[in-house]
Amino acid sequence: MAEFLTGFKRTDMCGTLRAKDAGRVVTVMGFVQKYRNLGALIFIDLRDRTGIVQLAIKNTDPFYEKAASIRNEYVVAARGTVAPREGTNANASMDTGEIEILVSEIRILSEAAVTPFFITDNCNANETLRLTYRYLDLRRPFLQKLLMLRDKATRAARNYLAENGFLEIETPMLGKSTPEGARDYLVPSRIRQGAFYALPQSPQLYKQLLMIAGMDRYYQVARCFRDEDLRANRQPEFTQIDIEMSFVDSEEDVMEIAEGLIKRVFFECKGINFTEKFRRITYQEAMRRFGSDKPDTRFGLELNDLSDALGKCGFAPFSDAVNAGGGIGCITYPSGAAKFTRKDADFFSEFVKDYGAKGVFSAYLKEDAAPAFFKHLTDAEITALMGVAGAQTGDAVFIIADKKKENVLNALGALRLHLAKKTGLIDESKYDILWVKDFPLFEYNEEDKRYYAMHHPFTSPKNEDLQFIKTDPGRVRAKAYDLVINGQEAGGGSIRIHSGEVQRLMFEALGMSEEDIKARFGFFIEAFRYGTPPHGGLAFGLDRLVMLLSGDDNIKDVIAFPKVQNASCLMTGAPDFVEEKQLNELGLKT
Ligand code: AMO
Repeated sequence: MAEFLTGFKRTDMCGTLRAKDAGRVVTVMGFVQKYRNLGALIFIDLRDRTGIVQLAIKNTDPFYEKAASIRNEYVVAARGTVAPREGTNANASMDTGEIEILVSEIRILSEAAVTPFFITDNCNANETLRLTYRYLDLRRPFLQKLLMLRDKATRAARNYLAENGFLEIETPMLGKSTPEGARDYLVPSRIRQGAFYALPQSPQLYKQLLMIAGMDRYYQVARCFRDEDLRANRQPEFTQIDIEMSFVDSEEDVMEIAEGLIKRVFFECKGINFTEKFRRITYQEAMRRFGSDKPDTRFGLELNDLSDALGKCGFAPFSDAVNAGGGIGCITYPSGAAKFTRKDADFFSEFVKDYGAKGVFSAYLKEDAAPAFFKHLTDAEITALMGVAGAQTGDAVFIIADKKKENVLNALGALRLHLAKKTGLIDESKYDILWVKDFPLFEYNEEDKRYYAMHHPFTSPKNEDLQFIKTDPGRVRAKAYDLVINGQEAGGGSIRIHSGEVQRLMFEALGMSEEDIKARFGFFIEAFRYGTPPHGGLAFGLDRLVMLLSGDDNIKDVIAFPKVQNASCLMTGAPDFVEEKQLNELGLKT
């Protein structure tokens, strides 16, 4: 029978007791990690989220029988005296290993069935089982520490923003489709049948309206919903630290505040004090050197452009690519000639297909044999290739040629990361943080033959590029910036358009008709007529940030109840079918 707490009040958390507490009478509560019955003595390891403490019960104690019935994961409260563990009885591998509690009273608050897996960090249960019993999974110290880290990071951010004059303001969950560009999660309206709310992909429009409302500086720890394919760093439901501020019109104004926030979070969570300003590189430079707009710069293997050196050569895959307006690029892996095999080369050629390229020419520069395709090149071209690639005998040069420049860059960027991961070039103990800025305002979509906003349609063009918005939209750069940590986008934002005229030019460039604009953003455009301060902001992905802080690479670990690959919850079974009656009320048929 479960007992009650009546009269028991916790005095200490299990993991906090130390030698200096010896002699104190304490009351602790928690879950049973393990028990050992030695006959004359029973030892129980009691666990709470701060750690584990050992309870000792003697066979002369009146509650010995009760203690003997205790099993793993029982919920127990114990009162007793903290006693030092002398000599070999001390356990140096436990934070509380210098003491134990000599129990004077013990209560079983709840019995526990045998759990489907052991509650330890090195449990080998698979993810499906662990997520089905997520509440048991979450008892493991590894996950408890991550959620505590998440709490710490969120609090550091909140404190920093409050100190800098930001108000925490909530915005609706039930709203209208926002312009972030992923698929929406829709919620049917009962009262207006056939109409739907959209769950926010971000609070973008609301936060801009708060600036128009004169709130001046806003932030929110905001839940966002995007119906897109899951990845290791993506969840359909995630959290942003969302920020917007008025009376700014240069990117640096927002970046400075945001950078301060990240520094504060790293200091409070990791004790790391970044004293230097984070590096800034342009989107163009990031793409050219690293083939990525979120470059991991903890290692080299930078890209080189071979288009000039080999564009006119006699090897058709190279010259055709350049003639068609594309390019040739390469990565040089020092001393790679003996490291990689033919099989690796085949794999690399397959690998880059996901990034738009057709294959890789892997040139292993061996003393005795030249790469096969070298026979199509003149000596001067080979010398030029080696020069641009910075390569010498013994190196491996990986070359990609394509009729589209972006395919060359994207594929080399992906290959660069793959090579670094595969061969252990990345120093995982390092934090590499940088800003990428000057993104293009638009992205051209070949299929739809039109431009899309790269960030969102409220992002301001650079003042000096506005002149090209009608004639050469591809050339217009945005006042947009992303913060990249260890090759992952941790946050991003922009200075917004605050002039109705520029906003109209933007919509025109996006091919939106007056009606489209009215239907989607009418209320928003209307608001701009009544006085709009220049404003800008950004949002950090809180889950990603905590994941990066912890050095983990699985976003699920930092979310209490995450979704799996098919966007379902293994524990609750959501999404699930509902009763006919509910559908009828909503006027829905499936
Ligand atoms: P953006 O779409 O770049 O910008 O999102 C901002 C940050 O949110 C995180 N993020 C995600 N994290 C986990 N799972 C996802 N599916 C996911 N999608 C995005 C990323 C990203 O950098 N309203 C703008 C911000 C602004 O302009 O102020 C926005 O939402 O870390």
